[in-house]
Amino acid sequence: MAAIHETTVLGIDIGGSGIKGAPVDVERGVLVADRLRIPTPQPASPEAVAQVIAAQVEHFSWSGPVGCAFPAVIKDGVVQTAANIDKSWIGIDGRKLFECYTKCQITLLNDADAAGLAEMRFGAGREESALVIMLTLGTGIGSALFMDGRLVPNTELGHLVIRGKVAEARASGLARSQQALSWKAWAKWVDEYLRYVEDLLSPQLFILGGGVSKKHDKYLHHFTTDTTVVPAEMCNDAGIVGAAIATSGG
Ligand code: BGC
Repeated sequence: MAAIHETTVLGIDIGGSGIKGAPVDVERGVLVADRLRIPTPQPASPEAVAQVIAAQVEHFSWSGPVGCAFPAVIKDGVVQTAANIDKSWIGIDGRKLFECYTKCQITLLNDADAAGLAEMRFGAGREESALVIMLTLGTGIGSALFMDGRLVPNTELGHLVIRGKVAEARASGLARSQQALSWKAWAKWVDEYLRYVEDLLSPQLFILGGGVSKKHDKYLHHFTTDTTVVPAEMCNDAGIVGAAIATSGG
């Protein structure tokens, strides 16, 4: 059990296969206890996921604020989209639902936005101002856009359509494994995507996160963007840490 301290917040990252949580020291950006991973229930209905959130809260004997990262557009706690999650989430007030199951104060935000908050404060974006775009290349492509360190939430740049296809269908981590693409072949799609985003938004820096960020030596050298591209530094913990940071407004 983690002692409740005012700089410690429970962060939970809700993903397609696992729901991971840990108490986070939000001043240092580190987990203060081992994280708990619970498999995502299938189907991942709102009630089934809420039960897992309650189990996380119970495991850590938590009663303080909780930040939850979720793979969808979130406005005022309400889930707006369901690209890679159960469609029954659309229109659900996830914040209220989780508060009802946990009796804790919940902050709910997009998963890539959460990962971006963590990278900007403690990881690859910490020295950066101007326009920074974090992209998570996992099951889908998540995006988080920062202007002078301030998050512009719910950008959904993974859903840009390039040559008739949504970007995440070619350039996500899942697309690479499902289509058994070589790193080089996949890097070509990611490069095309990055150049497309670069043409639209002219960022100062791209930060690439998601599971593939650990393997950056296999593909970064194939990119041809003018914008600098760096791997995320917080790996698996970015969503948890960022969700915790978000409870105090990011
Ligand atoms: C969703 C985003 C999410 C991303 C990464 C996309 O399919 O639309 O909201 O951030 O996947 O999970």
